[in-house]
Amino acid sequence: MRKHAEMILEKDFVLSKVDERIYGSFIEHLGRAVYTGIYQPGHPDADEEGFRRDVIELVRPLGVPIIRYPGGNYVSNFFWEDSVGPVSERPRRRELAWRSTEPNTVGLQEFYQWCRKVDSQIMMAVNLGTRGVSDALNLLEYCNLPGGSKYSDLRISHGKTEPYHIPVWCLGNEMDGPWQIGAKTPEEYGRLSCETAKAMKLMDPDIELVSCGSSAPTMPTFPQWEAITLSHNYDYVDYLSLHRYYGNSDGDTADFLAQSMNFDAFIRSVIATCDYVKAKKRSRKTIYLSIDEWNIWFHKAAEDADIQENHPWQIAPRLLEDIYTLEDALLSGLLLITMLKHADRVRIACLAQLVNVIAPVMTEPDGSAWRQTIYYPFLHASLYGRGTVLQQVLRSTRHDTKSFTDVDDVDGVCILQEEQQTLTIFAVNRDLREAADFTCDLRGFGQVEALEHLILTGPDLLASNGPEKENVQPVSVKDITVDAGKVSVVFPAASWNVLRLRADSMSRSSEGH
Ligand code: AHR
Repeated sequence: MRKHAEMILEKDFVLSKVDERIYGSFIEHLGRAVYTGIYQPGHPDADEEGFRRDVIELVRPLGVPIIRYPGGNYVSNFFWEDSVGPVSERPRRRELAWRSTEPNTVGLQEFYQWCRKVDSQIMMAVNLGTRGVSDALNLLEYCNLPGGSKYSDLRISHGKTEPYHIPVWCLGNEMDGPWQIGAKTPEEYGRLSCETAKAMKLMDPDIELVSCGSSAPTMPTFPQWEAITLSHNYDYVDYLSLHRYYGNSDGDTADFLAQSMNFDAFIRSVIATCDYVKAKKRSRKTIYLSIDEWNIWFHKAAEDADIQENHPWQIAPRLLEDIYTLEDALLSGLLLITMLKHADRVRIACLAQLVNVIAPVMTEPDGSAWRQTIYYPFLHASLYGRGTVLQQVLRSTRHDTKSFTDVDDVDGVCILQEEQQTLTIFAVNRDLREAADFTCDLRGFGQVEALEHLILTGPDLLASNGPEKENVQPVSVKDITVDAGKVSVVFPAASWNVLRLRADSMSRSSEGH
């Protein structure tokens, strides 16, 4: 039987609006993310502040609304005072998380400037590894208060009269991980994060706070970590973080592409745990999810270990410079689809990371900036995946893989852009050899017109891009048939697809209720 899938959509069956912060990303002081990544004075493309224009030009189209900073593992021994004030007075430090040397040439002040250049905002993390409540308060005061207090006046003395107004703050990073500087037990983190959150909201009631979840669902303390820590800090935090990375170390592509089912199960478990604590506390408040690290990460593990063990304390070493393949792009598309299907609870997500370090954008210190394969699904989702996610019926032919049963050959999601009267369907055909027939029943949407079908595919699943050539790029085709509100199209084997449609009847009968 030929592979096929059918999607049925009803405009009144709405899941949720997409919070645009689901298209967030992450820059850590790690490897070449900052130095020779976003910042390289002396590079032919550097602007007057030393930021690479070629990088800005590739980041801006991604429409990243928030960028998590400065870590990651780096934040757990971060001394924010080192990263502000006159650059010539800033100390160098031994950076213990990645065993590098941090020159502090770029710090909070400079990163704030860079975020403005890419139309984004900082999502700041505080150090709950080696520091605590008072330090988090001082940093918040420095960033968000208008003046008239010790640290806000210090910021003003550094030439920044306007506050940074950082809206979202992470209460540490992966505090459950034994590798973390200052790792904590769930009880220790629960108490510390509760007291830090309480005090930070007294300092600035407008901020939102993210409590650290487990660093992966494979951690032995998952999900007790979530249950215990939330039972302490529930009343003061707004989000719980999830981190998840996937890899294809076994070279089993079918199993790799089914990993988004594992991601889905992880998200469901975390939602269930949040709601368990809600029930236990008889609370009316709902905790939302911040998937503030997600990506594919495995290609360079051995080289990274060698640099850290045998060549430590370099400035900006080549760490985590994974080169992504077409199959990585397909999984990243499936992960985006999975997050969108949970848009009612996932309010923030950060593609980890943004430049050079497990990143969609790469640079050569002596050359150009270029786009990895994973750049494209993220670009498409950020461009066309804003609006309202519809509840859908999706029936697909299925297959089994080594670790998963009943894997849909085609997975997808639909987003409605009411103002533009458009619908976008993101879909991946996971089948590695066969094309899949896809139909979509748009009953009740009136006249439907096909606008575009973007496809990312190719004959070689291990094809990748580089500074010289972008082998993996999307193509736009005109192959959609529309007949009486029924859309038909063929998804090539192993492909990421974006279907853009226009419909003349968008208003919902439930509107205004
Ligand atoms: O993104 C790379 C690292 O992955 C982060 O520093 C850490 O939080 C996670 O383990």
